[in-house]
Amino acid sequence: MPDTEATGVSGKSQLVFFVNGRKVVDQDADPEMTLLTYLRTKLRLTGAKLGCGEGGCGACTVMVSRYNPAQGRVLHLAVNACLAPICSLHGAAVTTVEGIGTTRTRLHPVQERIAKAHGSQCGFCTPGMVMSMYTLLRNHPAPSMEQVDTALQGNLCRCTGYRPILEGYKTFTKEFQGCCRGTAGKGCCRNGQDGQAANGQAADGPISQVSTELFQVSEFAPLDPTQEPIFPPELMKAEGSDGTTLKFVGERVTWIKPATFKEILELKTKIPHAKLVVGNSEIGVEVKFKNCDYPLIIAPGHLPEITFHRYTEHGITFGAGCTLTYLNDTLAEAIDTLPEHQTRLFAAIVEMLRWFAGDQIRNVGCIGGNILTASPISDLNPIFLSAGCTVTAMSHQGGSRVVKMDHAFFPGYRETALRPEEVMVSLDVPFTKENEYFLAYKQARRRDDDIAIVNAAFRVQFEERTNVVQDIALSFGGMAPTTVMARNTANRLIGLKWDDDLLPEACACLEDDLPLPPSVPGGMVEFRRTLTTSLFFKFFLSVQQRLNLKDVPPPYRSACSLYHREPSQGTQMYQEVPEGQAREDAVGRPIMHLSALKQATGEAVYTDDMPWIQGELYLGLVLSRKAHAKIVSIDPSEALKLPGVETFVSAEDVPGSNITGPIVMDEEVFASEKVTCVGQIIGAVLADTQAHAQRAAKAVVVQYEDLEPKIITIEDAILHQSFIHPINKIEKGNLEEAFGKSDQSLEGELRIGGQEHFYLETCAAIAVPHGEDGEMEIFCSTQNPTTTQILAAKALGVPANRVVCRVKRLGGGFGGKEMRSCVISSVCAVAAHKVQKPVRIMLDRDEDMVITGTRSPFLGRYKVGFMNDGRVLALDISLYNNAGNSMDLSHGVMSQTLLSSAGAYTIPNFRAVGYVCKTNTASNTAFRGFGRPQAVFFAESWISDVAIKCGISQLKVREMNMNKEGDVTHYNTKLERCQMQRCWEECLKQSDFHTRRRQVDRFNGENRWKKRGMAAIPIKHGMTFMRTENQAGALVHVYTDGSVLLTHGGTEMGQGLHTKMIQVAGRVLKIPTSRIHVSETSTNTVPNTSATSASISTDVNGMAVKVACETILQRLEPYMGKGSWDDWVRAAYFDRVGLSATGFYRTPGLAYDMQKNEGRPFSYFCYGAAVSEVEIDCLTGDHTVLRTDIVMDVGDSLNPAIDIGQIEGAFVQGYGLYTMEEQVYSPDGVLYSRGPGMYKIPGFADIPVHFNVSLLRGAPNDKAIYSSKGVGEPPLLLASSVFFAIKDAIYSARTDAGLKGTFRLDSPATAERIRIACEDQFTAQFPAAEPGSFTPWAVKL
Ligand SMILES: Cc1cc2nc3c(=O)[nH]c(=O)nc-3n(C[C@H](O)[C@H](O)[C@H](O)COP(=O)(O)OP(=O)(O)OC[C@H]3O[C@@H](n4cnc5c(N)ncnc54)[C@H](O)[C@@H]3O)c2cc1C
Ligand code: FES
Ligand code: FES
Repeated sequence: MPDTEATGVSGKSQLVFFVNGRKVVDQDADPEMTLLTYLRTKLRLTGAKLGCGEGGCGACTVMVSRYNPAQGRVLHLAVNACLAPICSLHGAAVTTVEGIGTTRTRLHPVQERIAKAHGSQCGFCTPGMVMSMYTLLRNHPAPSMEQVDTALQGNLCRCTGYRPILEGYKTFTKEFQGCCRGTAGKGCCRNGQDGQAANGQAADGPISQVSTELFQVSEFAPLDPTQEPIFPPELMKAEGSDGTTLKFVGERVTWIKPATFKEILELKTKIPHAKLVVGNSEIGVEVKFKNCDYPLIIAPGHLPEITFHRYTEHGITFGAGCTLTYLNDTLAEAIDTLPEHQTRLFAAIVEMLRWFAGDQIRNVGCIGGNILTASPISDLNPIFLSAGCTVTAMSHQGGSRVVKMDHAFFPGYRETALRPEEVMVSLDVPFTKENEYFLAYKQARRRDDDIAIVNAAFRVQFEERTNVVQDIALSFGGMAPTTVMARNTANRLIGLKWDDDLLPEACACLEDDLPLPPSVPGGMVEFRRTLTTSLFFKFFLSVQQRLNLKDVPPPYRSACSLYHREPSQGTQMYQEVPEGQAREDAVGRPIMHLSALKQATGEAVYTDDMPWIQGELYLGLVLSRKAHAKIVSIDPSEALKLPGVETFVSAEDVPGSNITGPIVMDEEVFASEKVTCVGQIIGAVLADTQAHAQRAAKAVVVQYEDLEPKIITIEDAILHQSFIHPINKIEKGNLEEAFGKSDQSLEGELRIGGQEHFYLETCAAIAVPHGEDGEMEIFCSTQNPTTTQILAAKALGVPANRVVCRVKRLGGGFGGKEMRSCVISSVCAVAAHKVQKPVRIMLDRDEDMVITGTRSPFLGRYKVGFMNDGRVLALDISLYNNAGNSMDLSHGVMSQTLLSSAGAYTIPNFRAVGYVCKTNTASNTAFRGFGRPQAVFFAESWISDVAIKCGISQLKVREMNMNKEGDVTHYNTKLERCQMQRCWEECLKQSDFHTRRRQVDRFNGENRWKKRGMAAIPIKHGMTFMRTENQAGALVHVYTDGSVLLTHGGTEMGQGLHTKMIQVAGRVLKIPTSRIHVSETSTNTVPNTSATSASISTDVNGMAVKVACETILQRLEPYMGKGSWDDWVRAAYFDRVGLSATGFYRTPGLAYDMQKNEGRPFSYFCYGAAVSEVEIDCLTGDHTVLRTDIVMDVGDSLNPAIDIGQIEGAFVQGYGLYTMEEQVYSPDGVLYSRGPGMYKIPGFADIPVHFNVSLLRGAPNDKAIYSSKGVGEPPLLLASSVFFAIKDAIYSARTDAGLKGTFRLDSPATAERIRIACEDQFTAQFPAAEPGSFTPWAVKL
């Protein structure tokens, strides 16, 4: 409880703000509550979503408007509601997605366009996207494309691949409004690079029946800024103008908003540990994720004394409370008006702010907050240090003093030179002089919205009209517990000439100035150290270029250029429906996802959006902190004393069986005697609110006794022979003979890391006991209602017929909610049973990442035998996957890897052996692609190495070995209707491969430090499920008003399954899709459903729907002579004909015996090809995907918009897998990367600059519904083209460095791996420490 008395501020204030035009007055506002929780739980406005709770995903974005008296206008800002304390909203007007439009009345154009442009799949990110864009439009009704890109920097989407969102929102831009709509051909802003226009024209002329229009711009309602809601007049006054100090008192925290600056000084003197909060973007994260308690908060952000800027003789002074957006805008204006030389520092700050978080954070985070948090990776502090900025601090007794930001400003980790009672008032940012240069750099995991791995700021001043260094400052972040200055280096360089002799001197000194021990927190030791000299080299060249003293050699010049990205663009091509297809027949048409409009307005209901049920309790989880340990004791006594707590639940409370598991029973609902991974569920606390439940869960004391061995990595498992049997194998031909015949062979080892699903909606469940006969209803975000039902029933000790699982929609699944969601729903069901009350849980992002497992990491050891012309004769590969602490689906995953490990190539002699490794990490599971992305990675790695070894082009080697019609695979399936060659050839043509390859080679010849690479990758994806799962059911009801209610076994998770099912039903019943509705998936309507996964849900459910609808149609046939559908239905009803029918389907002919290598494992194959081109920065490891072309075989597409959306979304997800997403584990098995802060999924700026997708035309598939093919997973494999393009670019860099031959590149190709692989004089300076000589900070699973 905070010491509110000590503040001297009496009473308790009421919080007043507006939400969507409605006044909210709260007498009892809790300072610990965020705006998001307030909106969702108190106001029941569930449009804004919780995706992460740490400002990293943008799902919670709302618009906050305030009157600014200084500017005399209302300012509209996009803000993360998850970080905004509710008390900070006093006097503000909040607009949520519900406040701008609804499907019931009028949609806002921002909502309409994202939906109709197919920019909403699962929809969980959509309200956040809508609000970011809405806020931009409120400030700029006709923004530039660059402004759109900036506005969306802080928003993540895991489904769409971003292109359709940009495409929809591009229509608001001034570029689009001045657009010729494609008539200018290649010059048009809507066109792909090759001149394919959006009107169905291809570069080589019109293509019949081909369309590139996925939506009609003419249908969009115009934006009318005059129609926007007005700002509440009541709030048109300066904040705090009534002179009262506000005080809000909560259970644990008091929030004071002082009326004057003097009061702050007085408060800080009385209570020096009181925290000043402006943006809460540091404090909010510390409280939520680092267990920090700050009982007294002072909110100074409204006071003019710290929110001003003033030009002085030496520069500009900024109030410490100025937001980063304010800093950016003010400096940008100065850059426009002042002489260039004066603003070089300003330009460096503005450039850095481009890569600093997203708008939502920059709009609230302040200068003082960044400086005084004293983060070692602050982006601004290195700049302020190198610039020698000064801070003015003030205290009640000490008055004001000026403190220079120099090497002494940060005396220790998270410490500054300010005294605890001091408040920072302002920062002086100086002008630069004519002979002074300033540049700053940042290297992060992702370019946009990421914290730095290393950043640096360099300033050099020369003696008048010379190149002799007069003064120099070099500051670095990420190289020590504080921002540091390389002072010895600076001293050494003063007096030297800025020429080639200076560089080695500087590099040697930097090495001494910036040491890092091999076990340093953050890891990446060689990379971080190499960056220090590489970034300095960039600065050196840039200054050399600007000084014009000596021309920088032409191949070095591109090292100096600042990153610039063109707005994304592309073309999507598909085959139109045949002429004469009935208008109401929607099959083959690009119709919008059925829920898209509701998703864009926030009306779509996800599990945690469901209204609170009387008596409901919230579940807080107690998780294991140990990887392998005996549970000595569990003591919930302290937790039970906390406010709002009802009870504690553990293994003892499981009424049925505590033994559980989706495939084999090798798990426990609650760990009973021992834990086998960090994050395993030990118990749960039930309380009245989420905050109470989570707080109490943390208070449960668990004592452990460590057990040995602790098996974390695949290598650990190999050492301890910790495998889940059987060890499967596929073998064909005669390996020994084939290797004997081969001209050459090569052996290697490769690793591909795991991948977090990062569905935007974390796992959620609500269990509602009905009291009678053990009945329970479970609302759940799961891909697998049946396993949810079965496992809950088992834990409850009741037959399955007492448990109903209901699923409305999921905010993404990607395989992560196929089995692991059942872990959560079973716990929830047991808890609900214990208290006989409804129980709810939605995991926090960090919990979800720790508990629910990921895509399995793989290690592969292989030997390939081949002829000198590149023909591969033999492959022998041993594969190991890290399954985690239980089997889950890891055997299934491994089987698919074994089946796919020849890639799209025909290898006559083959052996693949799969070892499923049991480790002490969270159980890994299904993820889109299911073992195939790893297989493709291995296959494409060795095939590209074969090409290098043979000295022939990779393209040729790939073509030579590629699958052809009639080839027999290593699992003895003959390929029929093989579309591989067609996809490949069309993709090479579409991408203009050969011309661009020559351009890439030319570029590489002309550039030493930037390199380009290209790769063309073919894929073949076998479509199947485990045998029993290849079945589906459907239930169709026709009501007497002619409306149809359709239910089937699949769940809707964004992939548009319900939309496609309605298209199928509409075709069979010959009625418009508007007459058909899908409400939900539930186990009491369609039983024994297969999980929605493996890309075959449309195939099997579609057939079941067709069967059911055909039954209905047959029954209606006697009445179809006259009248309409409605008449037939009524007539049938009056004749007492049943208007409800079920349908059932099982895929025929599937049976494969791996032991004998006999039978058919796949129903059919999907084929595709992609060509990607990248540019890498050899000095930093950064890369950009310049262009990707995809040709994908989806049979006859049921819905081209949905299918293209799946292709683009899967590609971008695969791109994350192969280049960016990296799990970071401690050697003790603790996951460090447990949120979007450290785990990076691709953002808007990562997609290919040119992104062209074509659906293969004229390739019907007789094995699936209406000649279509599954599409969810196969395109993910195409993203490997980016990985191999990167590898190609690195190869060029290595060649320049005199390195020849193959080299190992593991996946993902992160900036670290790219930089280290581009070996040069800088990397040579920092060799890796001898393995085994130290304990690494992190390990690779
Ligand atoms: C998603 C996300 C992305 C981010 N990205 C980046 C990034 O790219 N680069 C980067 O450098 N940082 C980043 N940050 C960190 C953070 O946003 C910035 O440091 C921001 O400037 C903090 O400002 P704030 O107003 O939100 O601080 P708050 O959380 O409000 O306060 C932070 C600290 O500053 C103190 N403080 C604030 N003002 C004063 C004052 N006038 N006098 C004395 N003490 C004061 C507070 O007491 C507190 O200890 C990110 C944070 C998040 C959540
Ligand atoms: S939930 Fe707020 S940014 Fe992710
Ligand atoms: S639609 Fe963006 S996260 Fe699903």
